[in-house]
Amino acid sequence: MKCTRCKIPAVVALPSHHAAFCRDCFLLFARRLVERAIEEHQMFTAEDRILVAISGGKDSLALSWQLKELGYNIAGLHIDLGIPESSPIARQYSERFCATRGIPLHVLDMAAEGLAMCEVKRRARRPICSVCGQTKRYFFNKFAMENGFTVLATGHNLDDETSRLLANIMRWDVEFLSDQGPVMPAQNGFAKKVKPLFRMSEFETANLCFLAGIDYGYAPCPYSSKASFPVYKNLLAELEDRQPGRKIHFYDGFLKRGQGGFTAQGEKDALVQPCQRCGYPTSAGECGVCRLKDLMGVTP
Ligand code: AMP
Ligand code: FES
Ligand code: ZN
Repeated sequence: MKCTRCKIPAVVALPSHHAAFCRDCFLLFARRLVERAIEEHQMFTAEDRILVAISGGKDSLALSWQLKELGYNIAGLHIDLGIPESSPIARQYSERFCATRGIPLHVLDMAAEGLAMCEVKRRARRPICSVCGQTKRYFFNKFAMENGFTVLATGHNLDDETSRLLANIMRWDVEFLSDQGPVMPAQNGFAKKVKPLFRMSEFETANLCFLAGIDYGYAPCPYSSKASFPVYKNLLAELEDRQPGRKIHFYDGFLKRGQGGFTAQGEKDALVQPCQRCGYPTSAGECGVCRLKDLMGVTP
C-alpha cells in the first residue's frame, strides 16, 4: 500500500476517502479537514478567543493539538465530573497534555460545586447521562461567557454527529433536527459553539493522536452503557464498511438539503429567558442546574 500523495509506503488506509497516507501526508490531510470545516462554516478566525472543552479523550486532545498547530488563540476547560472510576484519569490526561503543549487549562471541579456525579446519580430522578450532559453544557457556557471567550469548541467527530442525526431522525425530533449542526451561533445568552472535527471519523482522530504522538486517556464513563447512540454508531459503521463515504455524505446532505425543512418548526428560542437565580438562559423559570443544586442541598 502506497501513500496516495507521495507514493512512499502508507501507514493508514482510508477507504472512505479512497486514499492511503504516510504519516506526514495523513497529518496534512487531517489538518485540511479541520481547516475546511472552520472555513466553510465560518467557525472562527485568528481574532477569536477560543475555549476548547477538553475531556482528556482522543477527540478533544486531537482538536486542541490541531488548533494550536494552526496558530489559533486557545485555552482549555476541563470539567472534573467527580466519578471515581473515570474522572481522575480524565483530569490527569487533560492536565498533562496541556502542560506539555503550552495550552492554558482551566479546571472546574463538580465535587466543589456539590455536584459530584457519583452523588448526583444517587439522587437524580432522571437518567444520569442527561443530567450530566446538561451540567457540562451549563458550565461550558457559563465559563465561556464570564471569561470573555468568543467561541466554545468541542471535540464531537463525524461518528458522534451522524449517530445523533440518525437517532433524531428515527424519533423525528424536529426541535433537535432544526438546530443540529457544526455551528450554533451566539444567541439568547448562549456562547457560539463549534465542532471543528465534524468531518473526521473516530478512526481518523485516533490515528491523528497516534501519529502526532498525543497520549490520550481511555476512561469510559461507568454510567453510560445504556446510552442509545452506540447502537446507531454500529449501524452506521456497518453501512460505511459496505459503502465507503456514506457517513459524510449523509451528514453533508442533511446540512445542505435536509435541515432547512426543519428550521421553521423549532420554536424553543422564543421561550428562552434568564434563570431567576443565576441568569443562565432557560425555558423554565429556574434553570436545570439551579434545580439540581436544590435537590443536592447545595446552598447558594
Ligand atoms: P462526549 O459527549 O463525552 O462524547 O464528549 C463530546 C465533547 O464534549 C468532547 O470531545 C469534549 O470536547 C467535551 N467534553 C466531554 N466531557 C468533558 C469534560 N468532562 N470536560 C470538558 N469537556 C468535555
Ligand atoms: Fe456524564 Fe457519563 S460522563 S454520565
Ligand atoms: Zn440557574
